Amino acid sequence: MSDATEALCRKAPVIPVLIVEKASDAKPLAEALIAGGLPCLEVTLRTEAALEVIAEMAQVAGGHVGAGTLLTPQDVENAKKSGATFGVSPGATDRILDAAEANDLPLLPGAATATEAMQLLEKGYRIQKFFPAEANGGAPALKALASPLPQISFCPTGGVSLANAPDYLGLSNTLCVGGSWVAPTKAFEAKDWKTIENLAREAVTRLS
Ligand code: 3PG
Repeated sequence: MSDATEALCRKAPVIPVLIVEKASDAKPLAEALIAGGLPCLEVTLRTEAALEVIAEMAQVAGGHVGAGTLLTPQDVENAKKSGATFGVSPGATDRILDAAEANDLPLLPGAATATEAMQLLEKGYRIQKFFPAEANGGAPALKALASPLPQISFCPTGGVSLANAPDYLGLSNTLCVGGSWVAPTKAFEAKDWKTIENLAREAVTRLS
């Protein structure tokens, strides 16, 4: 499980966190982000269209589409059936971990404390999402976990921006960051895919 999520986290410095209301936006959005250099996309299961969005995006060449905000075993099953190739969860429960394993879905589970990170490590998860990153102490908090828990690497997410991403990416225990800033709502509404492609490219250029 962790080998697969590690490979995904190493593909680009940012995993865009996407909240997509309309399935018709899925393909152009994925194409823009991938063209800008961000191939791993997290589609949060926070909209009615999310599963359809995943199915549409999964057809776009060059991308790796995951389902985020996995909260129940049913979410995991639905994500897998829709074509998600990885999952992301804000935290971790035994039911979610079991469902991810049963569905053979590589999972990036969330941890916010040393205890949560250790519990996940015991279950074999060496790659974890640090969430909510900024509210939880930001890069200094994540840095403090590196010395006692060097075998765990993170994708900090939540409040991460182009401005503070370098603070995280400079840490020995950070592989990539997650963030929504590369796909702002305004650009969606205007179907301004060029702006989104440029934001993705800017992130790759400044953070790689
Ligand atoms: C989320 O759950 O929405 C993610 O953590 C993204 O957070 P962000 O909008 O602060 O990037």
